Amino acid sequence: MRISFTVNGEPRKADDVWEGESLLYVLRERLGLPGSKNACEQGECGSCSVYLDGVLVCACLVLAGQAEGSEIVTVEGLASGEDLHPVQEAFVEAGAVQCGFCTPGLIVTTHDLLQRNPSPTDPEIREALAGNLCRCTGYEKILAAVRLATERAGEAGA
Ligand code: FES
Ligand code: FES
Repeated sequence: MRISFTVNGEPRKADDVWEGESLLYVLRERLGLPGSKNACEQGECGSCSVYLDGVLVCACLVLAGQAEGSEIVTVEGLASGEDLHPVQEAFVEAGAVQCGFCTPGLIVTTHDLLQRNPSPTDPEIREALAGNLCRCTGYEKILAAVRLATERAGEAGA
């Protein structure tokens, strides 16, 4: 089947999609967007987090057909050309990236958190990121990155 949808603001199509194929597979393998990572393919790790019509989802759990006509935003879509999004910059500056496999999902999840709650407390940050697993960092640097992104967002809005 053919899927037509909007990805990162651009109309995109994917042909010959199998009914059981995931949105994650289509994004990575058919549309050349490898930012969303495939770590568990079971909805457990959050590495594949993307927006589907403004709602944070695990792309590995969404059938490609369910995305027909929808608007998808991936981690690639958060940057403006060569300029990283402030959340992306905060992860780099805080040293929250080691192997980087969890990072795209954490960035999209943090972006979603700050849209809903511009000044999250530490417990709120922990709760929001609870579905994103990282095997490298011990999470402290990730918390520091989210705090930094929160500060920057506050300054930008001030
Ligand atoms: S790859 Fe989708 S949740 Fe792990
Ligand atoms: S940096 Fe390696 S899994 Fe998080």
